Amino acid sequence: MHSQTLPVVNHSFASTDAVVRHLDMNLNVNFDKKVIDGVVSVYYDNRGEAESLILDTRDLNVTKVTAGEKHRRTSFQLGTPQGDLGRPLIISVKPEDRVVTVHYQTSPNAPALQWLSPSQTAGKLYPFLFTQSQAILARSWIPCQDHPGNRITFRAKVKVPKGMMALMGAQNDMVKHPRGEYEFVMAQPIPTYLLALAVGDLDFRAISDRAGVFAEPAIIEKAAWEFGDTEKMIEAAERLYGPYRWGRYDILVLPPSFPFGGMENPKLTFATPTVIAGDRSLVSLVSHELAHSWSGNLVTNATWNDFWLNEGFTTYFERRIQEEVYGKEQSEMEAYLSYQDLVEEVKTLGANNEDTKLLLHLEGRNPDDGVTSVPYDKGYFFLRLIEQSVGRPRWDEFLKGYFEKYAFQTMTTPVFLKYLEGTLFKNDKKAYENLQVDSWIDGPGIPANCPKVTVTSFNEVDTLAKAWSSGTTPAQPKQFSWTTQQWQHFLRALPRTLGNQQMAELDRVYGFSKRGNSEVLFEWFMLSIAANYEPSFAAMEEFLINVGRRKFLKPIYTEMAKTPEGRERALRIYERARPGYHAVSTRTIDDILKVEGSTR
Ligand code: BES
Ligand code: ZN
Repeated sequence: MHSQTLPVVNHSFASTDAVVRHLDMNLNVNFDKKVIDGVVSVYYDNRGEAESLILDTRDLNVTKVTAGEKHRRTSFQLGTPQGDLGRPLIISVKPEDRVVTVHYQTSPNAPALQWLSPSQTAGKLYPFLFTQSQAILARSWIPCQDHPGNRITFRAKVKVPKGMMALMGAQNDMVKHPRGEYEFVMAQPIPTYLLALAVGDLDFRAISDRAGVFAEPAIIEKAAWEFGDTEKMIEAAERLYGPYRWGRYDILVLPPSFPFGGMENPKLTFATPTVIAGDRSLVSLVSHELAHSWSGNLVTNATWNDFWLNEGFTTYFERRIQEEVYGKEQSEMEAYLSYQDLVEEVKTLGANNEDTKLLLHLEGRNPDDGVTSVPYDKGYFFLRLIEQSVGRPRWDEFLKGYFEKYAFQTMTTPVFLKYLEGTLFKNDKKAYENLQVDSWIDGPGIPANCPKVTVTSFNEVDTLAKAWSSGTTPAQPKQFSWTTQQWQHFLRALPRTLGNQQMAELDRVYGFSKRGNSEVLFEWFMLSIAANYEPSFAAMEEFLINVGRRKFLKPIYTEMAKTPEGRERALRIYERARPGYHAVSTRTIDDILKVEGSTR
């Protein structure tokens, strides 16, 4: 069989007649070579009489494959590589086989793996490894049927250098094993994009009986304090939408090169250290990743086109948890900023861009291209509109039932809409029509009936921003007790045309350049680039060298690249910073600065 003839469905080459159910993994993590040596037994369901099992791989060096419990040598073939999809591994099997065992080694450039040198960690003594599998990167470290339409359970044995700790998004032993040998079990079926491993010098602090924080020893105390409300969040989430079904909920704080804010790996959220602000002001990230334990990990988007079913629901659920734990004003400030993000995103993409529709069209593209603020924030506002339409009590009851009914299953946009119409709107067709569902799902831009957010605590912020716009230095009343979100709003509200003297004055009065809060610092850098305020650039360069979180990098590099001198500066910084970034981030920034990707 030739790979050219293999259909690509859901960004995967996987066979549909022989479907994987369980993985038994033996992984050996080699920091010297930057590879994982793997022996993975793949248990599958042969639905018919399939004579081959097809798995996804990317840059895997497959050395041997056996079939059956008795490990009979069998033939296999790797199809032609097809860009980001990798290549199919086609294994000959007998109809009675239920398992194959694949021996392989990952590539040092595997895009799911980031190998950090000791200097990129807080402790500076040990190297660090973490994986990022979403959306279609799992195949670069584990041969699997790598699409969200299927679920698997797994067991794993992982060997790492002595003195280091291994963690997976699974049931963990919670302690360091001196010989570096770890075992994991994932008993609940999960999609492969949730496969996750991290190895480093890690410590643990409990938050409650079922929640805790892993981080490097140098930052564990700060991290444990920052995430101290996690148990309250879990309890709030359970009150809203039903029991937490995964046993423990822990958070792993990664080094700053982690390309995302957070990743909802089951039982073990991966998180950027850039949310550790010292005042719990950025912990909506935890509410978000925790919410995925229902929206995403329990009820999973069936295809990447349905990504908003994961992220829009999660953004909605995140705000509801935030409201429960920190009050309505807090969650409304966050909702307001998210509306601004959506407006900006639609402006950048263009109001008629296909990617501004909730239902995406990612066939033939990398699903990562669909990761914009649209599925998150447009998704959020669509669900908020439904809440407004039917009222909270009925909407909450509906959502609770939805998570219950479809737990451990996948969901498509049409099935969700049909379920919505047939239950919540069964006796009120008019109300359903008023939602103008099509304009949200298949229409571009921001629909006319998008809910509006008004936030009273932004009023004084607007007043002060206006005063600064008029060119004078206003008296400073009580704004030093402002929340992080008020400062974010303030910096966004300032005109992009302030002179150098006023920028200097702003920094003198409010000390933006010395803020430890990454979101505030980010807004300050964005303003500084637009105003071409040079005194900010050294700190910005340092930030860009240190932090690999794409949400910050993308707008900063984009803003810099708008002028010729800015672009030169961006290229200079990027040359230094790039080796420290994850492949997910370099893919995006290479594109913005139009530099050729080197090895990846
Ligand atoms: N699942 C996403 C991260 C992701 C999405 C990784 C698509 C790869 C492909 C995660 O839950 C997320 O949304 N993270 C956000 C944080 C959040 C608070 C909006 C992020 O990383 O910025
Ligand atoms: Zn998310």
